[in-house]
This record gives sequence, structure tokens and C-alpha cells, in this order.
Amino acid sequence: QRIVVLISGRGSNLEAIVRQSVAEDWPGRVVAVISHKADASGLAWAAGQGICTAVVDHRAHASREQFDEALAEAIDAHRPDWVVLAGFMRILGDGFVQRYAGRLLNIHPSLLPAFPGLHTHRRALEAGCAVAGATVHFVTPTLDHGPIVAQAVVPVRAGDTPESLAARVLAAEHRLYPLALRWAVQGRLRIDGQRVLQLDGAP
Ligand code: GRF
Repeated sequence: QRIVVLISGRGSNLEAIVRQSVAEDWPGRVVAVISHKADASGLAWAAGQGICTAVVDHRAHASREQFDEALAEAIDAHRPDWVVLAGFMRILGDGFVQRYAGRLLNIHPSLLPAFPGLHTHRRALEAGCAVAGATVHFVTPTLDHGPIVAQAVVPVRAGDTPESLAARVLAAEHRLYPLALRWAVQGRLRIDGQRVLQLDGAP
């Protein structure tokens, strides 16, 4: 199975996915890494791993739809079975989401449906949560809302700041995303309405 990963920055989730896919010899590989930001450091890391990279500059397109079109073209050049958003900080239009329906995944740094959107760690701390975490989900037109594939829970500790909590959640993301994606490339995920069923073993 062919995986294309979209990033916006450091790409620590990308790195975790690439390392795990090789270490566990998945029936799938990251074949390309694409960003809208030429200076996304994850692009340099991927190139260093011999992985194809591409930049689709959102400023070079008059509209969101035209950017999404150009992005989809760059993605489809690699014939993906899965499109993985990893620290990708742009909102994608309905047309793009429909094009990849059922094979577009995202990781969000909260236990959805709690805290969709931004500043999730500060909001969790302000709400006095005892636990926090991350969610891997299928992407649907409603932001941070699609069927949940897997979640990881971390404790909130006394004295936590948004930064200390973010670091603890990020470490959990680096275990969660590779696990969820392995299930995906093994063909073990089935969407059932708002739920995801994980089939034991390949069908
Ligand atoms: C992570 O916290 C992830 O949950 C969010 O983007 C952040 C950065 O991810 N979506 P990465 O280091 O670029 O993979």
C-alpha cells in the first residue's frame, strides 16, 4: 500500500510513521511527503530518507479550491492508497475531502470529540481535565470530527503547562499514529457510520 503524508512543519509524526513502517515491515510504505511550506523541516528529513517530496505553495493559487486541486494533483502523481495528514495545518475543502473519502486520515492532539480546533492543551488544562490525549480519525468535511480510528490517553500532571502537556501528548502520538496506520495498510479498518470497526487480521 502506498502512503502519501502531508506536513506543515517539523514532521515528528511523519518520522515516527516512516521508522515504524520499516521496522515492522508493513505492507505499506510512505512514497511521498508533500507540504504547502517549502521550509517545512520534515521535507528535508524525508529527502534524506530517499522519499519523494513536493511543495504546493498555497500563495501561488488564487483560491482555496485551486490550491486543493493543485495539492490533489501532486498527491495523485504518487497513486496513494492512503493520504495521511501529520501536523498539517491547513483546512481542506469538501471537494478534496470527498476525493479521498475513506482513505484520508488525520491526527488531532485531543481526545475528540473534546476540544476540536486549536490550542487543545491550554483548553484541556483550563477545563481541569484529569487526562488528555490524541485522536487518529478519518477526515470528513466537518473539521476534527470524522470516524475515530484510535485514541491515546495521557495523564495531566500537577503543574502542567500547555507545553509540558503537549510534549507528553506528542510522545503518545508517535506511538498512536503508526499503530493506526499499520491497521489501515493491513486492511483491517471498516467505517460503520460514525464508528470504525477494526477487523482482526486481514480480511
Ligand atoms: C502535533 O501535535 C499533531 O497533533 C498536530 O500537529 C503537531 C505537530 O506534528 N496535528 P508534527 O511534529 O509536525 O508531526
